[in-house]
Amino acid sequence: MPVALITGASRGLGLATARALAGRGWSLVVDARHEAGLAEAVRGLPRVTPVAGDVTNAGHRSALAAAVGAAGRLDVLVNNASSLGPSPLPHLRGYDPGALRHVYETNVLGPLALIQLLAVPLAQANGTIFNVSSDAAVEAYEGWGGYGSSKAALDQLTAVLAAEEPGLRCYAFDPGDMRTQMHQLAYPGEDISDRPEPESVVPAILRLIDERPASGRYRAADLTVPSPAEVTS
Ligand SMILES: NC(=O)c1ccc[n+]([C@@H]2O[C@H](COP(=O)([O-])OP(=O)(O)OC[C@H]3O[C@@H](n4cnc5c(N)ncnc54)[C@H](OP(=O)(O)O)[C@@H]3O)[C@@H](O)[C@H]2O)c1
Repeated sequence: MPVALITGASRGLGLATARALAGRGWSLVVDARHEAGLAEAVRGLPRVTPVAGDVTNAGHRSALAAAVGAAGRLDVLVNNASSLGPSPLPHLRGYDPGALRHVYETNVLGPLALIQLLAVPLAQANGTIFNVSSDAAVEAYEGWGGYGSSKAALDQLTAVLAAEEPGLRCYAFDPGDMRTQMHQLAYPGEDISDRPEPESVVPAILRLIDERPASGRYRAADLTVPSPAEVTS
């Protein structure tokens, strides 16, 4: 059975993706910083190995690689764990450099380090890399300069990786707005109940896994097939 490593799988999009792949019979290695929350989230999911830790930590990334080694293969890596940065979102003029460094370590350097560490099993499986991006990577929203520029760096890293690793599928994946803790942090005090649940994005991820289109940047909204009822209404 295939194996996936999903970072940031204790809630939000990472957990929704973990549930879907576990339901398909995949084996999973998953992480999140908070051990109890991670254990609680994946309790009851079969064939899931939780490894608590921070993707910015080299020792933790080695532990993830060891868990993948024990699983025997790696078909899909989902670099999903991410940092929004300070909330409320600061303008660039006053952005704390240490906070910005942390955003880049989480959203760019950690994901690349995991890709480097797992390059061999990914290549052996003709594997797929999802680097979870954002529309903030390509749009200039006020306050989103730190997070957005980190996701833009992640997008470019994904594009170059695709050119260098033709045997892999490398996707920068933009899920669109989702009703999650990160989204609430971006809009403190606002009602975000009109945003779609992260589960609504998972079919787009499954479609990329199943159909393996060319490497590139994909938006979930462009991949989610509307139901017949939606088409006729
Ligand atoms: N929500 C949106 O509207 C939206 C829009 C566009 C793109 N995205 C992207 O979608 C992805 C998922 O976001 P989400 O909204 O589902 O977020 P979320 O609900 O806040 O979940 C984030 C997950 O990542 C974990 N995590 C955070 N920092 C980590 C770190 N340094 N190391 C390991 N795990 C870490 C969290 O657990 P711990 O706190 O225990 O570590 C949690 O499991 C992110 O890449 C985000 O940038 C989200």
